[in-house]
Amino acid sequence: MKNKINSIAVLTSGGDSPGMNAAIRAIVRAANFNNIKCYGIYRGYQGLIEDDFEELGARSVRNLINRGGTFLKSARSKEFREKKYRQIAFNNLQKRLVDALVVIGGDGSFTGADIFSKEFDIPVIGIPGTIDNDINGTDYTLGYDTALNTVVEAIDKIRDTASSHDRLFLVEVMGRDAGDIALNSGIGAGAEEILIPEENIGVEKLVESLHKSRKTGKTSSIVVVAEGDQIGKNITKLAADLTEDLPEYEIKVTVLGHIQRGGSPSCYDRVLASRLGVGAVDALLEGKSNIMVGIQHKKIAHVPFEDAINKKKTLDMDLMRVADIVST
Ligand code: F6P
Repeated sequence: MKNKINSIAVLTSGGDSPGMNAAIRAIVRAANFNNIKCYGIYRGYQGLIEDDFEELGARSVRNLINRGGTFLKSARSKEFREKKYRQIAFNNLQKRLVDALVVIGGDGSFTGADIFSKEFDIPVIGIPGTIDNDINGTDYTLGYDTALNTVVEAIDKIRDTASSHDRLFLVEVMGRDAGDIALNSGIGAGAEEILIPEENIGVEKLVESLHKSRKTGKTSSIVVVAEGDQIGKNITKLAADLTEDLPEYEIKVTVLGHIQRGGSPSCYDRVLASRLGVGAVDALLEGKSNIMVGIQHKKIAHVPFEDAINKKKTLDMDLMRVADIVST
């Protein structure tokens, strides 16, 4: 039997990611399909506190599936960490008779969602939205596939100029705590070495490998560096240090930065967003709360917030071995 839900609200929180708009669209339309009123809340938890709501109908989310970012905007709210502001947030939901909340964001956003749900006994469902792919319990997070393709496209361009000038490029990609973007884009773009937060290959091995590449006939090289890599040096400092150890190379640095977070979502992310959005509304109708709706082995999965937040997602380290072999 379906749980009675009359009204829901959706917000996006934390770092934005391509596909968030497509997920909002799916939630609004799934709500509409089930005769549920749907509100959009602007600027994440901050807008929830500041009463920044708008009722959204099926036509409010037209022409959105292809747009990057989040039209509801995103924020990291410090105030939401305090109970007195969470009370104000709850009052804002209550005065509109909102029965449940959907939060699209990363593990920090889910932590707030979990506390809020338990404190006020209101159902909350999470959708994993971050380019980092670092949330436990889902094979993919929204925006990761798009970001990966953006990175590969950028490195392909860098490769052209690296090869024309016989240069070594250090390319910094996002991933403060997770190496998914670095490792997969590194393999996809044919990098010589990949530095990730999960493993410290050490400067010595890096230098040795780049010497070897030169000796075996490579004239240009690309090293992908995750921003949270374990060597831990600022990338410009790393380049300066390597210049001493690798006199045979002319070394350049490119930091890809926030272009990785923008852009039109890939088809994969659009479909994922649509499935997770519909999945979130289905979960609410099944009476679920305090779970993230994720994807496991191509199927929708319900993951308790506790597991999504506290358990660390493991990176497939065999990919490092693959990267080593294919870059020889
Ligand atoms: O979205 C995740 C992430 O891209 C991290 O990889 C990165 O460290 C961080 O966001 C930077 O976000 P901001 O500039 O919004 O603080």
